[in-house]
Amino acid sequence: MTAHIKTDTLLKAENIHLSYGENVILRDINFCIRDIIRPGIKQGQVVSLIGRSGIGKTQLFRILAGLQKPTSGTVELKNKETVKAGDMGVIFQNYYLFEWRTVYQSLLLAAKQNAALKGTEKETIDQYADQFNLKEELKKYPQQLSGGQRQRASIIQQLLKGSDFLLLDEPFSGLDVCVIDKVTTLLLQVSLSDELKTLIIVSHDIATSVAISDTVWILGNETGKDGATIKKEIDLIERDLAWRTDIKKDKAFNETVEEIKDCL
Ligand SMILES: Nc1ncnc2c1ncn2[C@@H]1O[C@H](COP(=O)(O)OP(=O)(O)O)[C@@H](O)[C@H]1O
Ligand SMILES: [Mg+2]
Repeated sequence: MTAHIKTDTLLKAENIHLSYGENVILRDINFCIRDIIRPGIKQGQVVSLIGRSGIGKTQLFRILAGLQKPTSGTVELKNKETVKAGDMGVIFQNYYLFEWRTVYQSLLLAAKQNAALKGTEKETIDQYADQFNLKEELKKYPQQLSGGQRQRASIIQQLLKGSDFLLLDEPFSGLDVCVIDKVTTLLLQVSLSDELKTLIIVSHDIATSVAISDTVWILGNETGKDGATIKKEIDLIERDLAWRTDIKKDKAFNETVEEIKDCL
């Protein structure tokens, strides 16, 4: 196993329950994201919540982002405060951007919300645009971008705001295979750029989520009970499946993917 220690709790979801009238969507959701420290390496956290379509991932995503109140239960951050809208960088499935602003104008607006960037907004945008291969697109409007470009613009927009958490809903869907690999690399790069950064991915794409994460939680139904809950937690570090680039060829990786499929 790769040397590491898990220290402080960064986020704790406790007894989350969500119903619409009689319809139970989520129940008894409990999980905890802890700070990972690797000797000599800058390392953020990457976790995934995996579940099939319609299970309640987007609902849970909204609750974690502080955009929706659960029927009961809490999402607490490190300071023991309940998460609220604006605490997290949120990347929606449709990569929401201001359609009437150029990419650059949108990014500048995001950068201006971050006091730490005061005076260096333009340079920072240029650096990100360079790193994310989006320089040519800065002067374009969102409708002139491809899906992959919209997603990258949306990720930069949230990174500029400077929040420690980046929450992504289905970041691998609607992108072609080559683009998925690029996004995976980019997200890993983001997680390595800052000790404090935590990426929370909500997805039905098992293989890509496992390949990028240090921990996964499987969201599913249990026989005889209404509503989705966490059926299993898999610590990928313990299985030696985290932080490796060649991972998809590994036998243990494929076994883990099969194990998750059987659980959904
Ligand atoms: N406002 C709402 N009122 C009632 N049911 C809803 C509402 N929003 C979502 N749902 C239901 O919650 C369930 C989970 O939806 P969602 O979280 O979007 O699934 P997923 O993202 O996993 O595909 C679905 O059955 C959906 O119909
Ligand atoms: Mg969804």
